[in-house]
Amino acid sequence: MAKVGIVGSGLIGKSWAMLFASAGYQVLIYDVDEDQLSRAIESIGTQLDEFEKSGLLRGKLSAKEQLKLIKTSRNLGDVVVNSKHVQECVYEDLSLKQKVFKEICKYCNSDETVLCSSTSCIMPSKLFVGLERVSQCIIAHPCNPPSLCPLTEIVPHPETSQAVRQRTRDLMEEIGQVPVLLNKEIDGFALNRIQYSVINECWRLVQAWYMTTEDVDKVMTAGMGMRYAFIGPFETCHLNAEGTVQYMDKYAEGIKRVSSTFGPTPEYDKDSVAKINQEICQKVPDTREQLEQRRKWRDNGLAELAKLKKQLPE
Ligand SMILES: NC(=O)c1ccc[n+]([C@@H]2O[C@H](COP(=O)([O-])OP(=O)(O)OC[C@H]3O[C@@H](n4cnc5c(N)ncnc54)[C@H](O)[C@@H]3O)[C@@H](O)[C@H]2O)c1
Repeated sequence: MAKVGIVGSGLIGKSWAMLFASAGYQVLIYDVDEDQLSRAIESIGTQLDEFEKSGLLRGKLSAKEQLKLIKTSRNLGDVVVNSKHVQECVYEDLSLKQKVFKEICKYCNSDETVLCSSTSCIMPSKLFVGLERVSQCIIAHPCNPPSLCPLTEIVPHPETSQAVRQRTRDLMEEIGQVPVLLNKEIDGFALNRIQYSVINECWRLVQAWYMTTEDVDKVMTAGMGMRYAFIGPFETCHLNAEGTVQYMDKYAEGIKRVSSTFGPTPEYDKDSVAKINQEICQKVPDTREQLEQRRKWRDNGLAELAKLKKQLPE
């Protein structure tokens, strides 16, 4: 089976390693930090065992077989040479990523290799500027935690070749991710643009004293979020009337009227941050332990949801 290189073995690097191994790829991970690399392999082994026990292991291979496919290297060249795909997962720092991509390009020995970044918010035109292999460069931005939320945003540089766009999309599908392709780059890609529009309005409702943070969160968890796990905003409109045309006939004026009252982007000033933090801390105190406990609870819920979605016929 072909080889995939991972550059950076933190949270996202480990996740990608498991996802590629689940489809049978030989995975080679590189990190500048040697201790981090050995901790990464240990933690991948533990996580694969946990996925197997809870029925969430992807692919046809056992946890042990998948772990065997994942190896580490202290040499970036070994990770890049002869790889089908290289997935960069270093810190979110533009100059570090630019430096890493220059090195990746230097070692790359094939026009077929896809050179891919996991960046959450750096635009491809900034990240890949001046690279000799720019036509092979692309972003595949996963959603955290990638093993439970399979969305992957694919964002090309204007000069990324059509073949690389297609190969990236095909590979993501092959490993069980759900890729979405942006035709051209835009700041925030899709997920963060949609997420920020929701955060902005939630913030305005609390700041202007219409609701508590707890009740705003319930609007999502007991309302919109329930259906958004299964159908997106467009399908919601379509199903909430006799199709999209009738929905817009009925509701477009209301959408425009309400939207005209949204107001400017909140400043996220110190006082409102402190107020909202105080409210949310009554439910989840912001100590390391309490946050970790709540993340585990969230991930258990996501795991159950992922199982349910797998069982439901489309
Ligand atoms: N954490 C998330 O929720 C999330 C979600 C989607 C995308 N991302 C993106 O993924 C990338 C990685 O994020 P993360 O959360 O895994 O970070 P992290 O801090 O957990 O890991 C970064 C790793 O990169 C290594 N590293 C630093 N410099 C390096 C170099 N020159 N060569 C090789 N390795 C190097 C570090 O030693 C560390 O192990 C970022 O671009 C981030 O924006 C993160």
